[in-house]
Amino acid sequence: MKRIEAFHHFWDTINNLSRIRTEPLHDFGMGMPPTSLFPTPSLLTHSMKTALDHGDYSLYMPARGPLDCLKEICRFENARLPQKCSKYGPDSFALNSGAIRAFARICEHILNLGDEVAFPSTSYFSLSSLVEERYTPRPFEFRDFNFDFASFKKVITESTKLVWLCQPNNPTGLYISDSDFLKIIEYLNERKIWLLLDESCDNFQMEAKSWIPPNITSQNVIRIKSFAKDLNLAGIRLGYTIADPALISALNYMTPILDGNPPTIAIRAITAHFHELFCGADQNHNIQYELNHKKIQESFNSLKVAIVKADVAKEIVFPEACYYLLVKLKSDKSSDQFFLDLINNTGNIVVPGTVFGYPIDECWVRICFARETFSLEKLVLDIKSQL
Ligand SMILES: Cc1ncc(COP(=O)(O)O)c(C=O)c1O
Repeated sequence: MKRIEAFHHFWDTINNLSRIRTEPLHDFGMGMPPTSLFPTPSLLTHSMKTALDHGDYSLYMPARGPLDCLKEICRFENARLPQKCSKYGPDSFALNSGAIRAFARICEHILNLGDEVAFPSTSYFSLSSLVEERYTPRPFEFRDFNFDFASFKKVITESTKLVWLCQPNNPTGLYISDSDFLKIIEYLNERKIWLLLDESCDNFQMEAKSWIPPNITSQNVIRIKSFAKDLNLAGIRLGYTIADPALISALNYMTPILDGNPPTIAIRAITAHFHELFCGADQNHNIQYELNHKKIQESFNSLKVAIVKADVAKEIVFPEACYYLLVKLKSDKSSDQFFLDLINNTGNIVVPGTVFGYPIDECWVRICFARETFSLEKLVLDIKSQL
């Protein structure tokens, strides 16, 4: 089944059911922690309100983002780089209206319809669906949750124009190791193939194991970031792209301009956020962020304990980051059938593995654990009742 079909089946089921069901549905699907569990740092909401009060909604901003915002982001990214790396300049950055739009826009610019694009066989649906629809997909094996260089090399041909990876991957939450990563960059560099990294899930690391982002010593590497997850701002549609200045500039002037201008209200808030990370006048800002992180970890632990105690899993993939748990259930049902039974009989939504490219007959599901502990415990009991 194509991922886009699996994705539509997932949403059609939810939308149809929510129209006829009297009881509410419980969403452990797409993510987005509730603000009751995960309060937005007040600096962000305050900055957005101030921008509204000033009438900033009437303004266009430069398509690439205003320089003060790009400089703040640049300072933040440079601080994350290892000491020995050369630093970025603001001309390596452009704002975008979310990672999915950024991906589509970059593909539009660097690819022709039908070009070969390689990506992990099990991966984030929005990007892989786009590739399936418009280009020639060349998935490489990613089923053991580890990057396999031999399998990767097999799918790269003379016609491959782009490789994209999520770092960490979604749905597993696992990072590709630094050493594999360097090998990939070197290999693609030699062949002059673009490497696009979607870093939307590079947040809420479970242990000290945070990924060290590479500086773009290679002109072929493009990184895209989103504020949807780490700041819980999926609704403001903002993120940024990091790439060689020539590509950034070309994206800015591409025709047709696909994105319009990024939203001014959101830009004000993000500029204040990055400024605060360095200037630190508003202590509550960083404290709130750390508290949110701690809560996500607690939720993860309760889900893990509940799953083990209820003995519902054949296999659990322990994520290194973000807030999704991928689990293969002790059930002979297909993941789609399990999803249907769970939602129809208990009102709980989890994402069936088919949406990410897992075979239909394996009962993989992805659970978002950025939820209250008690609801996660109840979910696991409901899962057990449907095995
Ligand atoms: C890997 C990945 N990329 C992109 C997105 C969507 O990002 P945005 O909302 O910024 O378009 C998500 C959201 O879940 C994601 O997990």
